[in-house]
This record gives sequence, C-alpha cells and structure tokens, in this order.
Amino acid sequence: MFNEENRLKRPYRWAMIGGGRGSQIGYIHRSAALRDGQFELVAGAFDINPERAKEFGSNIGVDAQRCYADYKVMLAEEAKRADGIEVVSIATPNKFHYQMCKDALEAGLHIVCEKPLCFTSAEAEELKKIAEDKKKMICVTYGYTGYQMVHQARKMIENGELGEIRIINMQFAHGWHSEEVEANDPGTKWRVSPEVAGSTYVLGDIGTHSLYMGELMVPDFKIEKLMCSRQSFIKSRAPLEDNAFVLMNLKGGAVANLWASAVNAGAIHEQKIRVIGSKASIEWWDEHPNQLVYEVQGQPKQLLDRGHGYLMHDDAGVTADRIGCGHAEGLFESWSNLYKNFGFAMKAIDDNDKAALDGLEFPGVEAGIDGVRFLENCVKSADNGSIWVDFE
Ligand SMILES: NC(=O)c1ccc[n+]([C@@H]2O[C@H](COP(=O)([O-])OP(=O)(O)OC[C@H]3O[C@@H](n4cnc5c(N)ncnc54)[C@H](O)[C@@H]3O)[C@@H](O)[C@H]2O)c1
Repeated sequence: MFNEENRLKRPYRWAMIGGGRGSQIGYIHRSAALRDGQFELVAGAFDINPERAKEFGSNIGVDAQRCYADYKVMLAEEAKRADGIEVVSIATPNKFHYQMCKDALEAGLHIVCEKPLCFTSAEAEELKKIAEDKKKMICVTYGYTGYQMVHQARKMIENGELGEIRIINMQFAHGWHSEEVEANDPGTKWRVSPEVAGSTYVLGDIGTHSLYMGELMVPDFKIEKLMCSRQSFIKSRAPLEDNAFVLMNLKGGAVANLWASAVNAGAIHEQKIRVIGSKASIEWWDEHPNQLVYEVQGQPKQLLDRGHGYLMHDDAGVTADRIGCGHAEGLFESWSNLYKNFGFAMKAIDDNDKAALDGLEFPGVEAGIDGVRFLENCVKSADNGSIWVDFE
C-alpha cells in the first residue's frame, strides 16, 4: 500500500505554464503534484492573458512577484534566484509545447508536458537529445496510467496469464463533440484548428492516451504497419478528424485496433482496452477504473477489484493503492501516482542513481515520441487513401 513516509526529503520547486483559470486540465496537475510532498508550487505563467495570469496565480497562493505574464520572463527571472524553479509543467494548447519544452530544458529544468508532446517526431527527438545533454527528465501526462488495475493487467499479461497475446482492442470514444460545440467553446475551438492542435484532432487529443495504455499493458508493443481512416463528421472541422479508426500489425504477430472519436453520441468517455490472448482476455474501462474484467476461455467471467489480496503484488500497482479495498479511487489518485513517480525520477537523475531510475514507471520522453510518430503515420496513411504504411 502507498506509504506517505516514502517521499523526497524536500519538494522540488515547481512552476506551471498554462493551466490557468477555467482551463480543463490545470487543476488536476496541481492536485496531483501537490498531494504527496514531491512538489511545491512557487511560480507560474498560468494564462495567455497577462492580467489573468497574475491574478489567478495570486489567488491560488503563489507569491505575486512570481506570477509572471510571460513564460520566457519566468524562465529568465527564476534563473537569477538561488531558490528558482527546478521543474515546470506545461499545460497549454499543443502548438506551444515544443518551444516551451525546449526553452525550459535549456534553462536547466525538468519537464512535465501535456500530450501530444509536440507536432513532429523530429522535434520530439530533439527534445530527447536536449534532455539527455542536460540530464533532465521529461514526463508526458498520460494520466490514466497511474491506475492500479492497469498495472495489475500489465503484470498478468507479463506473467503469461492470458497466453500468447493476439489482439489489442483500444478505444477512446466520447460523444461530447457530436455537434459543432466549438462555436461557443474556446477549449474545443483550438482542438479543431490545425495551427494550434497540429495535424490531428481526436487521434492526438485522446487516441494517444489509448496508444500509451496499450504500450504500457502489453510488453513489446511495437507497431510494424498501420492503416488509418479518419473522418470529419462536423464538416467545418476538416481537415482535422472527429472520428478515426486505426488498424495495426505489431511486430511478433499480434494485431491491434484503435478507435478515437468525439462523435460517439451519448457516450461519456468510453476509454477501454481489451487485451486478448490465446487463453484469456482482460478488459479495463476508465469509467470503472477500480475493476478489471478477466475472462478465461471456458470459465465464468471474473471481476477483479482493486485492493484485494488476490491481486498480483506488482510494486507499481500495490504502492499506488492509497486507501485499501472498499473505497473508490479515481483520476486524481492515478495522476498523483504519475507525479509521485516522476518526483522520484527527477531525484534519481539528479543523484545519478541509475538503479533507482530503472525501477520507476512513468510515461517519459519515449512515450511522447511514440505518440507523435503514431500521429504522423496515421496522417500519412489516412491522407493517402487509407493505405497501409510501414511504421517509421
Ligand atoms: N492528459 C490529459 O488527460 C489531458 C486532458 C485535457 C487536456 N490535455 C492537454 O492539456 C493541454 C491544455 O488543454 P486544456 O484543455 O487545459 O486547454 P484549455 O484551453 O482549457 O486551457 C489552456 C490554458 O493554457 C493557457 N495558455 C494558453 N497559451 C498560453 C501561453 N502562451 N502561456 C501561458 N498560458 C497559456 C490558457 O490561458 C489556459 O489557461 C493540451 O495540450 C491538451 O491536449 C490533456
């Protein structure tokens, strides 16, 4: 079970870029980072609007002198301080991620960045190189991957409980954008604008979550070829898609599919993954994240619940359990597990402790690169008539 005493001796001095008032994801970053004593929020450039950035930062308890109107000013001013920031989370719309990550790495900071990490794999590789040169860590917030039952599934698959893995069926298909809601919602508007969102909408916005879920659960999940079909059911969203299907042949013979949609009318979230082996299947759904469906061929269906002694005692799963069996845990806990591990990862690299680093699970820069490469390959396939492409 989670042990509160297992924490850093002192928190990292942390700042945020974006994630200001009314943003969709800002609060969950703060809630997750501040929960376990690994981070202390000391500065921020929280909003694109300079006045709002300062006002919001002060209102949430950050020293007014350290609430900046512009992230570049924040990086420069904080670098002059003996107690300047050491790590920054970037929670702005996608188009800013690359430059902000690059500037922050060059300023000697660790980074937590929202997905997709950037627009091209060349940019992503460049960020990886800078991070390596600077000995800094990058975490990409695939925030669903801190759930314990996801790690239980990973352990069962790794232990061969499912037999040989044949099929991975992934989806993230909500219905919130079944109509043209962007007309009155800036948070949706930028998601369907290529210059801000990048070359995809649902594939980058939610499909990358599903992809990383597959990569995390299934060892050696490596795409060999893929084929993508994407549609803009709300015509004004073209060329960006609000629905997409991806078929994948994986190295080693397994096959996978991924459905990403914002027009699954009536659906709330529908992020599911089903992994099918030669002996059994496993299914996880983020609307019931404390449970895992386990179906062995020829036996009654089983529903495994978080916190029970019958679960495999995978470190990532068990140390992630915060309140034991019988109470609901959710997205906040999942994100906290991610930030907690990342706190230890920063410390490990700062201390040059490779052994400690190897034992920590969190979506790092490779996960970010994979997500961006996936998007590039999907676009290449879809926009050339949904052809099969070798995964590059
Ligand atoms: N990991 C997840 O589960 C998850 C969920 C939602 C969003 N996201 C990602 O988070 C990012 C932000 O999404 P959102 O839905 O919160 O967007 P949003 O539009 O709701 O909020 C964006 C915030 O960033 C601020 N901002 C914009 N440009 C800025 C700049 N140049 N400097 C400082 N602040 C700036 C805005 O003022 C606002 O506070 C996106 O990359 C999105 O893909 C991830």
